[in-house]
Amino acid sequence: MHTKIADPSTPLVVDDLENGTFRVNRRAFTDPAVLEAERKLVFDQCWLYVGHESELPERGSFIKRKVGGRPVIFVRDEEGIVRVLFDTCSHRGNTLGTAARSGTTNRFVCFYHGWTFNLRGALINVPDEKAWGGCLDHGKLGLGAPPRLDNYRGLFFMSVKSDIVDLKAYLGGATEYIDDMIDMTDSEMAIAPGQQSYSMKANWKLLVENSADVYHAPFTHQRFFTQFIKDIGADLQEWQKMAQQTTDNRVIGFENGHSVVDVPAGPLPMNASDPALLSDLRQKLTEKYGAERVARMLDRSRNLIIFPNLILISAWRTIRTFYPTSTDYMEIDAWAFVGKNDSPELREMRFNNFIAFLGPAGFGTPDDVEALDRCQKGFAATEMAWTDLSKGMKRPGGALANDEYQMRNLWRRWAQMMDPQYKSSDEKSNAMAPNNQP
Ligand code: FES
Ligand SMILES: [Fe+2]
Repeated sequence: MHTKIADPSTPLVVDDLENGTFRVNRRAFTDPAVLEAERKLVFDQCWLYVGHESELPERGSFIKRKVGGRPVIFVRDEEGIVRVLFDTCSHRGNTLGTAARSGTTNRFVCFYHGWTFNLRGALINVPDEKAWGGCLDHGKLGLGAPPRLDNYRGLFFMSVKSDIVDLKAYLGGATEYIDDMIDMTDSEMAIAPGQQSYSMKANWKLLVENSADVYHAPFTHQRFFTQFIKDIGADLQEWQKMAQQTTDNRVIGFENGHSVVDVPAGPLPMNASDPALLSDLRQKLTEKYGAERVARMLDRSRNLIIFPNLILISAWRTIRTFYPTSTDYMEIDAWAFVGKNDSPELREMRFNNFIAFLGPAGFGTPDDVEALDRCQKGFAATEMAWTDLSKGMKRPGGALANDEYQMRNLWRRWAQMMDPQYKSSDEKSNAMAPNNQP
């Protein structure tokens, strides 16, 4: 499989630190053989995000999702334990239950022939069971489950790779940034009810790149930053000053392809910085964590990529994941995270904030959908075989957040998984260079 997709004469990724060149062959976005390979060699080898424990408030709460291409049921069982079951009947395959995508239940009934399973997936009833003459083995006919399920601070991930490293080790240095996002909600994060589901006619990796792309914002979202920002009462000049500075921003790459861009939060009211609503929270957090950590959590904005397909965005309180259905189409799900104990006013502000920029009809997302759709369309000119991601590779002192280091970091991990012959260069970003620690 490797040799077919990664022909040494035209590698998928060219990583030449010495000459400051990083290129991705556009086959990586268009070739069905690449997608087929990445399902097995990337997605099936990673921890993939399923959901947050707050989405299952009581015993019997369940939500149906698709994770890594599989239909699953995310459920809290009779004893309160969070589980993930494959949503396919062991009889002849039907997905379980009614058309409801979420709710509360005490069992899953298959509507095809009525087989019934408890919340742990055990088969508890088979209509007309005497027809099997005592040979039906309930023990072997329960619902399947991914071999690994784990959580980090209530964020549940599954893996179909049974010998994958523990989730905490997989997340590595990125946990510090996950902690910041959870602790900024006074440590009790909850997912706001509901989810946003939408799609793009674009390869899934374009959205990983885009989700931490600082470089594109003033261009792709020009109207937001030059017009709407005034309409929502923000200080345009303050924002422009911040957008032009290039020193107070950092990007860090972690092992396993995760990375974070870390920039000043800026003066946008939509960054949820209404002083009246936030002063109480700020004070509480300061007592708990000290002023320095609180400044880090509240005055900076972080976009965190957890490889391969989970994005956490602090400024918009967004969790987003996505999966390809073909090389040029992906399905995206996004949720807003809030503080469990937020006042109703604060919660409303957070929620408006979430919808206003990154909602499917917000100020930002439609621009991004358009940009990525058009990249994918551009790939049809196959004579233009390469995408360039070299920005910042030769910046003195190392790449910054508005460079393309974070994209290279994910592509490096991707290429390691896809092509055993690929050799990664040892690029350090500005924040990772030995003499450049903040
Ligand atoms: S497919 Fe589920 S009971 Fe037959
Ligand atoms: Fe964008």
